[in-house]
Amino acid sequence: MESTIQDTLINKERFGKDFTWGVSTAAVQIEGAHDADGKGESIWDVFSAQKGKILNGDHHQIATDFYNRYQNDIDLVKQLNIPNFRFSISWPRILPNGTGPVNQAGIDYYNNVIDYCLKQGIEPWITLYHWDLPYALELQGGWTNRAIINWFTEYVTICAQCFGDRVKHWMVMNEPGVFTGAGYFFGIHAPGKTGIGNFLPAVHHAVLSITAGAKVLRALLPEAQIGTTFSCSYIEPYSNKPKDIAAAIRVDALLNRLFIEPILGLGYPAELSVLKDMEKYILPGDHDNLKFDFDFIGLQNYTREIVKYSLFTPYIQASLVKAKERNVPLTAMGWEVYPAAIYHILKQFNEYPQIKKIYLTENGAAFPDEADDGKVDDPKRVEYLKAYLQQVLKAKKEGCKVSGYFVWTLTDNFEWAEGYNPRFGLIYVDFETQQRIVKSSGKWYADLLR
Ligand code: BGC
Repeated sequence: MESTIQDTLINKERFGKDFTWGVSTAAVQIEGAHDADGKGESIWDVFSAQKGKILNGDHHQIATDFYNRYQNDIDLVKQLNIPNFRFSISWPRILPNGTGPVNQAGIDYYNNVIDYCLKQGIEPWITLYHWDLPYALELQGGWTNRAIINWFTEYVTICAQCFGDRVKHWMVMNEPGVFTGAGYFFGIHAPGKTGIGNFLPAVHHAVLSITAGAKVLRALLPEAQIGTTFSCSYIEPYSNKPKDIAAAIRVDALLNRLFIEPILGLGYPAELSVLKDMEKYILPGDHDNLKFDFDFIGLQNYTREIVKYSLFTPYIQASLVKAKERNVPLTAMGWEVYPAAIYHILKQFNEYPQIKKIYLTENGAAFPDEADDGKVDDPKRVEYLKAYLQQVLKAKKEGCKVSGYFVWTLTDNFEWAEGYNPRFGLIYVDFETQQRIVKSSGKWYADLLR
């Protein structure tokens, strides 16, 4: 009975006929072909080849072999009735050294992907940077080197010139908070750098590159819809004690506000005292260049975090109370299933009058799916997606400017430092044989979008 009520509630029509439905992917996680046709090395190629960096010693050299199977996988997007396909461009496929000579084979490949999407009636949505920096640039400091603003601008210019005649929706970067935090502070993602001295310049140069890249797109493609995406988790304090509440405010500033606020012209969040050292990297004139008037903002939400005061946690004096210690439903990532998180995040970002439009550019869940007799039944993912969508609908009915929803992700894939273990796909992949099986969640999404 309950599921019938939910089904009615998430009927596609209730979101309105202009609501955008899609599915999201990223180059490193699916393409494989790590050294094919002139591609340069990326920081992820180097990182995942190092011992102990990726769970079970996995690497993404083959991944789901999307590079060779893109037609088959785009056919599956079509088979699932998904009208919009978000994918990222691999910078080192286009510019093997990050800057300088262009690799024509890389341009040809993305032209083929774009053309095949359009031929199948699927709208391509491009992310320009989903974390695969050319390694040649990392050798010069990567995101910590201010020259990256120019390197990135050169790359964006080439993509706009080569693909802009057909691609209408662009996202400059994917989740800068994650690649700077995990890659330049904790060292658990590529390039494996650590410490505040790497994190702060990486953050500032990422913000300046996002706006510089967006300006290039605007100048070259005046008709394009230009956005950028952010990871966001709904933050709640562990208790009503003032110290826990203040800790939650700091974590919210770090995880949810650090990038969006400068981009909206509001500056870096004042609650983060550690940012005072950012001044070292801010040059005269930067404040004006931190801002861009985006057509849309992409939000990516999976869960909520509970935060408590922690005297011994440097810089932030706050820590997360892990979901597995809270006796709550979990995904295979150990993240809490908490559908209201997406509602609260929409409400929170809706408050910024400068944001014109929000697309939920990622939401989904990993569960330990298994193939049985050619079928994959994943009721937990179906329930997860339904419950989160119900919350999206609630926010929309209350007037939130949310215009679309993209499931993370099309097929099971390479989940960064977690390797192939967490399966997020609507479609199961047998990584030995590359066989694809549409999961029951994929069939459910196809029915919803029919
Ligand atoms: C990223 C994806 C990732 C997903 C699940 C997002 O942070 O954009 O690349 O696979 O979340 O962890």
